[in-house]
Amino acid sequence: MHVFLTGATGFIGSHLVTELVGTGHRVTGLSRSDAGIAALARAGADAVRGDVNDLPFLRAAAEAADAVVHAAFDHDHADMRRHSENDRRVVETLGAALAGSDRPLVVTSGTGLVRSGNGGPALETDGHLSSAEFPRAATEEAADALIAAGRHVMVVRLPQVHDTHRQGRITWQIQLAREQGSVAYVGGGANRVSAVHVGDAARLYGLVLASGRAGARYHAVAEEGVAMRDVAAAIGVRLGLPVASIDPGEAQAYFGWMAPLAAADLAASGASTRRELRWDPFGPDLLTDLRAQEPLVR
Ligand SMILES: NC(=O)c1ccc[n+]([C@@H]2O[C@H](COP(=O)([O-])OP(=O)(O)OC[C@H]3O[C@@H](n4cnc5c(N)ncnc54)[C@H](OP(=O)(O)O)[C@@H]3O)[C@@H](O)[C@H]2O)c1
Repeated sequence: MHVFLTGATGFIGSHLVTELVGTGHRVTGLSRSDAGIAALARAGADAVRGDVNDLPFLRAAAEAADAVVHAAFDHDHADMRRHSENDRRVVETLGAALAGSDRPLVVTSGTGLVRSGNGGPALETDGHLSSAEFPRAATEEAADALIAAGRHVMVVRLPQVHDTHRQGRITWQIQLAREQGSVAYVGGGANRVSAVHVGDAARLYGLVLASGRAGARYHAVAEEGVAMRDVAAAIGVRLGLPVASIDPGEAQAYFGWMAPLAAADLAASGASTRRELRWDPFGPDLLTDLRAQEPLVR
């Protein structure tokens, strides 16, 4: 299959290139930079240079492929609403490019946008926040509209995706801990994040492309919930810094833009995804990768 991949040079996208090329797909990866184009060639992919926000260009690139995986996003937290609304238009454009065919579009979202209906871990069938509540949900809303119009769209929701270099938003927490000279968690630290090793996440995208159901949401969750006090302890040991609980009222001063996330319980389940796609993640787990962090994050 010829797959057009946005975000092909990113943390997840670069592992996706390896996975898809390794399983016999032809991959055309997108990047804005010469360095990205060179990296894609080294990884065995074709490459196109461009910006996802150049919508006519994006549409033409998607029309030339048998399938599209969208994993690009600009994570500039200072302007999350603008980047999220841009992503809505990107998903709409990719969907329009595939209209009138059964060619699949795989859209990337996050399990952190889903709220559990019953107090347990968030399920694939639970609803997502609205973009009015959380701007990043614009991507899910664009996918909803395409699915309602009968397009072959599937959503992969990612939790904290990790290896020994990157661990989702926990990478930001590690930087914060270095700056502040201590590792903090909020209250008792029993609130959780869900997690997946980046290699397992990449394999799931391959399974979704091969046998995913049109309209389905899949959770790339290997670990349903890792307590934030355990995450903080692992960071503290690795960095040799003290670990302390802070009150909710102190969270904004320590965590900045991450304060609401730092206190939230974001457990999520991938059980139905595992069953349906016979996805069997094998790790390593989040705390193992945190304890073996590479100096790169310094
Ligand atoms: N990492 C996680 O733990 C996690 C968790 C939940 C959800 N997600 C979602 O998963 C997706 C991939 O995340 P990631 O961690 O791999 O991101 P990343 O490492 O920050 O990579 C971002 C990618 O997006 C591309 N990109 C950004 N703006 C672009 C633009 N205007 N035009 C073209 N390409 C653009 C970059 O390409 P160039 O710079 O080469 O152009 C790069 O390949 C995102 O949707 C993210 O929100 C990630």
